[in-house]
Amino acid sequence: AIESGVAKHPITNWEAYETELQERIGIDQKLMTRITNQAKKNPKTVVFAEADHYKILKAAQIVKEQRIANPILLGNKARIAAIIEETNLDLHDCVIIDPYEEEQKREEFAQLLYAKRQRKGLTLFDSRRQMRDRNYFGAMMLETGEADALISGLTRDYSKTILPSLQIIGVEEGINKVAGMYIILSKKEPYFFADTTVNVNPTADELVDIIGLTARAVRFFDTEPRMAVLSYSNFGSVQGDIPNKGAEAVRKAKQRYPDLMIDGEMQANTAMNRHLLKEHYPFSELADKGANTLIFPTLTSGNIAYKLLQEIGGAEAIGPVLMGMRKPVHILQLGSSIREIVNMVAIAVVDAQNYNNKHI
Ligand code: ACO
Repeated sequence: AIESGVAKHPITNWEAYETELQERIGIDQKLMTRITNQAKKNPKTVVFAEADHYKILKAAQIVKEQRIANPILLGNKARIAAIIEETNLDLHDCVIIDPYEEEQKREEFAQLLYAKRQRKGLTLFDSRRQMRDRNYFGAMMLETGEADALISGLTRDYSKTILPSLQIIGVEEGINKVAGMYIILSKKEPYFFADTTVNVNPTADELVDIIGLTARAVRFFDTEPRMAVLSYSNFGSVQGDIPNKGAEAVRKAKQRYPDLMIDGEMQANTAMNRHLLKEHYPFSELADKGANTLIFPTLTSGNIAYKLLQEIGGAEAIGPVLMGMRKPVHILQLGSSIREIVNMVAIAVVDAQNYNNKHI
C-alpha cells in the first residue's frame, strides 16, 4: 500500500531536498588541494602586515615549510622574537621588518604615497605618519614590487585595514569597485558568496559589477558559475527596493555577460533547491542544477549568511577573497584561524602567479 502511495504521490519536495542536503553535508578539500599544489609550483613573496601575532607566525611557518610562500613579517622585532621563542616556532630564515626601524625606506615610501595622494588632500607630514602603520608600509611593499602579495586584517576591523590598500594599490584597470567573496566548501561542490565584505548597499549597476567580478573569480577556481541574485522574493513576487534592484541587476547582467548563467531575483532556498525551481519556476535557466554562486543584495545579508554557515552550518568557509584589486591583497576576517590564514596565503600566491592573465 505504501509503495502504491509513493507512486501516486511522487517524491515530495522536502524528501528530494533532504537527499540533496545529505549529499552536501561534509567538506571536500579538492579545491583547496588544487590551489595549494598550484601555489607550491611557484611560491611567491607574501608580506604579513600583522606578524606580531601567534596565528600569523604559525601560518607563516606552515606556508614556509610547505613551500607555499616566502613570508616577510612586519612588526616589532623584539615582540616577534619573543612569540617565536615562547611558542617554539621555527622561522629563523624569515625576513622580519619593523617599519619603525626602517627610516630610509619609510621616507622613500612616504614620498611615493605623497606623490600619489597630494591632490587628495594628503600632506607630506601625514604621509610620513601613515607610513608607520604596517598596513600602509605593507601595501607600499606590494606596490613597489618588494612583495608579490599582501595579507593583513587579523586583529583590526576590515574597513580600517582595507583603506590603505584601496588608497595605495587601488582597483584594477577597467574595474569600478572591489568586492569580497567567500567560498563555502561542501562534499557536493563548492559554493561562492558575494559581496560578503566590502560594498554596503550596492546599486543595481554596482551589483552588475559585482556579478562580473564574481564570475571571473569563480572561473579562477576552475568552476563555471551558476548564479542567483538573492532577495526575499521570487521573480517579482513582491515589489520593493531589494526585489526590484535584484531583478534590474539580473536583466543588465544578462545583457553585459551573455555567456553567464544567471537568474533572479529569488529567495536563497529557491536558488539552492533545484526541485523547487523545477516545480515552481521551470522557466529559470537554473532549474536543472540550481545555483552554485549567490549574489547578495546587501553587505548585511551576505556577511550574515556566510558567518552563520561557518558557525552553525558545519561548513568550511574560505576567504574573504578580495576581487578586483590591481595587485593581490587579501584582508583576513577578524580572528581568522591558522587554517584560514594558510588557505588565504595559498590563494594569494596563485593570484600572484596569474597576475598578468587569470587574476582574481
Ligand atoms: N572599491 C574600490 N575602491 C573603493 C571602494 C570599493 N568598493 N570603496 C571605496 N573605495 C575607494 C574610494 O574610491 C577612495 O579612493 P580615493 O581616496 O583614491 O579617492 C578610497 O577607497 C576611500 O574612500 P572613502 O569614500 O573614504 O571610503 P569609504 O568610506 O567608502 O570606505 C570602505 C570604504 C572602508 C570599504 C567602506 O565601504 C566600508 O567600510 N565597507 C564595509 C566594510 C566592512 O565593514 N565589512 C564587513 C566586515 S568584513 C568581514 O566580516 C570579514
